[in-house]
Amino acid sequence: MAKKKVADDKAIQDSPREGECVRPLISSTDIQQKIREMGQRIRVDFPGEPLLLVGVLKGAVLFLADLARQIPGEVTFDFIAVSSYGKDTKSSGQVKLNKDLDSGIEGKVVIVVEDILDTGLTLQYLLRVLQQRKPKSLKVAVLLDKKERRIADVRADYVGFVIPDEFVVGYGLDYAERYRNLPDVGILSLPGAPH
Ligand code: IMP
Ligand code: MG
Repeated sequence: MAKKKVADDKAIQDSPREGECVRPLISSTDIQQKIREMGQRIRVDFPGEPLLLVGVLKGAVLFLADLARQIPGEVTFDFIAVSSYGKDTKSSGQVKLNKDLDSGIEGKVVIVVEDILDTGLTLQYLLRVLQQRKPKSLKVAVLLDKKERRIADVRADYVGFVIPDEFVVGYGLDYAERYRNLPDVGILSLPGAPH
């Protein structure tokens, strides 16, 4: 077990580009354990109901894949893609819909699955768009919540981990499209930034 942890830490530290550094924050073991609990809670809240998981591309893909396998009963998926303008490590505040859902959601129990809740502007926009389509119920599951950074008045119904105001990568979360494949979540420091 201890050996595995060392191997995970090594894997996360081996891949960064020159000058970039990823410090482990949440291990894949802890992520998987939390997702098991979240999946069970979701099913307890909606016993016997078909659930539609709406994954927010691309960051939530890994989380959705694991969460879906921890929810017993009927579960389907759909995906939506949004972007906040700019590819910096800070959200610009303006959100654009890049890919819509394949099917309607009217009358369905919908759970939006997001990787991270930061300012909340992305989620606020998504919830407004989806609510207009009259789902039976609209809930939100996020793996990570950077509570301190919230600007929009939104909250998630299911939260994996509350994390500090640091830029994180791994387990779906990217920096310039890289690091999504790391099995753990880590804090990214960029060249020139103090460690
Ligand atoms: P919000 O609109 O500020 O809540 O930002 C949500 C989106 O910004 C997330 O879905 C992520 O794509 C991205 N994001 C926010 N914080 C981080 C981070 O620490 N690492 C990677 N992506 C992040
Ligand atoms: Mg995202």
